[in-house]
Amino acid sequence: MNRLTTSQGEFDLARFPENPRDPLRAWDAADEYLLNRLDGAEGSEPVRPSGTVAVVGDRWGALATALAAHHPVQITDSYLARRATTANLARNGLDPDSVRMLSVRDTPPERVDLLLVRVPKSLALLEDQLHRLAPAVHAGTVVIGTGMVKEIHTSTLKLFERIIGPTRTSLAVKKARLIFCTPDPALPRTPSPWPYRYALPGDVGAVSGRTVTNHAGIFCAERLDIGTRFFLKHLPARTGPDHVVDLGCGNGVVGTSAALANPDATVTFIDESYQAVASAEETFRANSAPDAEAHFLVGDAMADVPPASVDLVLSNPPFHSHQAVTDATARNMFHGARAALRQGGELWVVGNRHLGYHTQLRRIFGNCATVAGDPKFVVLRAVKR
Ligand SMILES: C[S@@+](CC[C@H](N)C(=O)[O-])C[C@H]1O[C@@H](n2cnc3c(N)ncnc32)[C@H](O)[C@@H]1O
Repeated sequence: MNRLTTSQGEFDLARFPENPRDPLRAWDAADEYLLNRLDGAEGSEPVRPSGTVAVVGDRWGALATALAAHHPVQITDSYLARRATTANLARNGLDPDSVRMLSVRDTPPERVDLLLVRVPKSLALLEDQLHRLAPAVHAGTVVIGTGMVKEIHTSTLKLFERIIGPTRTSLAVKKARLIFCTPDPALPRTPSPWPYRYALPGDVGAVSGRTVTNHAGIFCAERLDIGTRFFLKHLPARTGPDHVVDLGCGNGVVGTSAALANPDATVTFIDESYQAVASAEETFRANSAPDAEAHFLVGDAMADVPPASVDLVLSNPPFHSHQAVTDATARNMFHGARAALRQGGELWVVGNRHLGYHTQLRRIFGNCATVAGDPKFVVLRAVKR
């Protein structure tokens, strides 16, 4: 846990899931810069939050927690961000109802008077969000974006310009920058280009040539990831009524492949991104029989899957959390998979060779075999004994 000190107050904050050994803070200079700017730091005019305050893309709830007195609406694609916000409000003795939490898939508020945007890693997600929020923005809406310098590009500013109105940036402070955008109600309203659908190549097993749906911001939304492609060619050939989990499902291509290859299996698709789970559901439904059974879960790894209830877990684990590289999520997924597997159940993982997943799997499962490999990727199998 760490303490954020701003003109709004002092707040104890942590990421979710909280890991006392995790040195990564739950906020950064971009959050601080925005909060201080609202309060008129460095001689600028303070912005008095009034009307509907919307906070988009808050990473770990630092913005929503610091602004809880103004009853903001938080809009996020991340289940982890949402859980972090709830926990951070509680940690600071704030009313959990002081922040209204919406996912990026929920209908946004009809009118927004102060729009605060933490620039996401994905330009596509920003584009989609600005399109969804544009009708709620009016000539008097104050729009401020924030991000680290390395996250804000000309293309970022162009999106604000094109969808909301004239845009300029601030000076950089502690490698963070603000974006000031003046709404232009005369701008033509264009629909979001998302979701994006493409057909898979012909050499990827059961899903060859099938079409996948990708909502904005999901992993590799515009083409098949090369690691996933390798995985699809080496998935286990199983039959029978397996319960399969596609863990960190993204657009659901892996779980859909398992379902098509074994029609007796039931697949649960899990991701912490609302956009990913919606994509997986559309990919699965578009490619399977109308009565095919599957479950779609927005959550943190295997946390909501009962112990000893799964026969097979398939995963291409994430190794980033926003901009940071981390193996914490993969480790958490492997532990969760072991707990959820039945005796004899298997976890199949694809990863870059250099990530060293085999060492972690051997530690957690006591075994690990290499099923396939090329110079870049390995597919590994660990069995619950
Ligand atoms: C490398 S991508 C793989 C996506 C998809 N399976 C594929 O191969 O194209 C990893 C996925 O894990 C998801 N993820 C990250 N952290 C997670 C968590 N704690 N619980 C569940 N999913 C998570 C990400 O949103 C992302 O969709």
